[in-house]
Amino acid sequence: MSPNNISAKLVLLGDMGTGKSSLVLRFVKGQFFDYQESTIGAAFFSQTLALNETTIKFEIWDTAGQERYHSLAPMYYRGAAAAIIVYDITSLDSFIRAKKWIQELQRQGTPNMVMALAGNKADLMAKRKVEPEEAQTYANENGLFFIETSAKTAQNVNELFYEIGKRLHQAQLMQPPQGLLLANGRKETGSSNSCCLK
Ligand code: GTP
Ligand code: MG
Repeated sequence: MSPNNISAKLVLLGDMGTGKSSLVLRFVKGQFFDYQESTIGAAFFSQTLALNETTIKFEIWDTAGQERYHSLAPMYYRGAAAAIIVYDITSLDSFIRAKKWIQELQRQGTPNMVMALAGNKADLMAKRKVEPEEAQTYANENGLFFIETSAKTAQNVNELFYEIGKRLHQAQLMQPPQGLLLANGRKETGSSNSCCLK
């Protein structure tokens, strides 16, 4: 099989403070900050992942979870090939909010979007409010991939993006979903950058 380079738009959604920016920063730069600033509007990052003979360049939109930015979200999830919906395992409200985002994506998102549900802050086990079994059941019922992560300890962060990459690759073998651009012959290396949008 010839080498493939795929570009995939990926959006992160979820309540404020659940750790969306922290997950992206961990994945793209290997960094974590105890006092991560709340996102204003959205932030853009890109990161390339090698999967055997395929390279996937993720074009990542890290959205702001504050309610006043909700109306901007469709700009970022429209045409996205994949979404990560993040909740905080220590907050039941954030899990309820995650389920609302999933409903919105099912109604208005890209058909056949690869969706992952991430229960973040898995390092805070003692404060857990959402059981993994409950999230797993919900994910199974809705055809999502579920994983618990910690941006702080890096637990399962690469695994999360890797699994999305694998699923996008599989989907692309059947038919390219929207938001997946094939760029054969283009060689990408693990470059990363970020900038911010208002
Ligand atoms: P908004 O941009 O407001 O939507 O928030 P966000 O979802 O981007 O959350 P952010 O990454 O800013 O993280 C919020 C707070 O949670 C920060 O103080 C982080 O340091 C902390 N945090 C993020 N991920 C983890 C984690 O896995 N474990 C722990 N213990 N803290 C985390
Ligand atoms: Mg943020």
